[in-house]
Amino acid sequence: MSRIIIFDTTLRDGEQSPGASMNIEEKLLVARQLERLGVDVIEAGFPVASEGDFEAVRLIGREIRDCEVAGLARANRGDIDRVWQALDRAANPRIHTFIATSPIHMRHKLQKEPDQVLEDAVAAVEYARKYTDNIEFSAEDATRSEVDFLCRIFAAVIAAGATTINIPDTVGYTVPSEYARLITAIRERVPDIGKAVISVHCHNDLGLGVANSLAAVEAGARQVECTVNGIGERAGNAALEELVMAFRTRHDRLEYETGIVTTQIYPASRLVSQVTGIRVQPNKAVVGANAFAHESGIHQDGVLKEKSTYEIMTPESVGVPQNKLVMGKHSGRHAFRDKIEALGYDLSDEQVEIAFTAFKRLSDKKKDVYDEDIDALIADEIIRIPHHFKLVYINVNSGSVAVPNATIRIETDGEIIQGAEFGDGPVDATFKAIKRLTGTGSKLLTYEVKSITGGTDALGEVTVRLREDDLTVMGQGADPDIMTASARAYINALNKLEYKKHNKPRVRV
Ligand code: KIV
Ligand code: ZN
Repeated sequence: MSRIIIFDTTLRDGEQSPGASMNIEEKLLVARQLERLGVDVIEAGFPVASEGDFEAVRLIGREIRDCEVAGLARANRGDIDRVWQALDRAANPRIHTFIATSPIHMRHKLQKEPDQVLEDAVAAVEYARKYTDNIEFSAEDATRSEVDFLCRIFAAVIAAGATTINIPDTVGYTVPSEYARLITAIRERVPDIGKAVISVHCHNDLGLGVANSLAAVEAGARQVECTVNGIGERAGNAALEELVMAFRTRHDRLEYETGIVTTQIYPASRLVSQVTGIRVQPNKAVVGANAFAHESGIHQDGVLKEKSTYEIMTPESVGVPQNKLVMGKHSGRHAFRDKIEALGYDLSDEQVEIAFTAFKRLSDKKKDVYDEDIDALIADEIIRIPHHFKLVYINVNSGSVAVPNATIRIETDGEIIQGAEFGDGPVDATFKAIKRLTGTGSKLLTYEVKSITGGTDALGEVTVRLREDDLTVMGQGADPDIMTASARAYINALNKLEYKKHNKPRVRV
């Protein structure tokens, strides 16, 4: 049976999603979860893009032992040197270099003739070989490139030492039958194609990222590039969880295996959503809130009689926690630790202590604490790391006769600052106070509240999107008190903005 290499690019292409950004500690948390998930390759970033990207790739390269760690480089020596500096201590490093091959990109973006592009590609692979034998070459915009030229360039880079050749559908333009034909043509026409793994990298502009990847695998591709929750540039990339569960669920038709530990899929999905601020749509395949919900009476009746009537895979198989009602104020430290392990978290003793204190605080306010509540609490206390601003205290007054006002206390770099503001409503007053205290000038684009579980005592999860100049970020916060959740979300977004301002990409892919 053929083994498919899962190349995860959540930390590189995924981070290019509009509004997404992760700081270095958040990236390491995601990388560790990807390692638990069993991906083969983690593309950790684009080191030349910014100091932050470089440091993140370096840290991940040093910490991750069980996956290959790849860094992205354009086809030039400076970018390749930077990848290698970042991956100096990685256990299994990979250099991923790319150049555009479509007429439209070569003419307008690169302003280079095809022969020059081919020469640059070969020179890049030859140069990368001075560092490692593990080299991936991508022909950007391959699906809008001329097949003859693609075959020439792939033959040349394989001769130069590339061990993986990637055929990206950069703009999500192809359709399954056409993509499969392209893979077949490359397999038939490129000399020594057997010396390299054929990889595919599909964007989802037409919603075909996963379908195209599967068609390519059936035509002979053996590496798929994907992201958790399908995040990525524009409409995103092929979703890792969908590909993996298609291989597993339709094994009768797709006789391929992966190294993915499927029960780690849901924890990975939650973590990526929490650190990027990008919510998973409820009807998202495999990991959406409704993916295993049966609404119609006929369906419910069928599932009660025999699950397989309407369930093609089980929630357990992707790690969706089953025993929803967890604990209350009498639950002890031991039970709490067992619970968070069952939910897929791997926390240090110190982190367990922080989370347990927050759990005790929550269980004083809320009788029944559910798995989702614990998830949200860990996200707020452990995962979303407050780099610059930290909420210390919030008090809000509002009502049908009161003029809404908010008093906020924030810690910033060890200093406590406090202030109050009036507003049109409690959220307005809260955000105005935070804005004044932090001296920030961002614009609020969207504000959303969602209840995490049922009941009036449920935790509220707030998501905000802010923009400052050309930077957009998303922030999340959760609490039984909506105003506290709102303040946390706003401050989380401000922290992301600060991080982004100091790590503005010098170059973009
Ligand atoms: O979409 C794309 O072409 C890419 C390449 C850099 C692989 O992300
Ligand atoms: Zn891409």
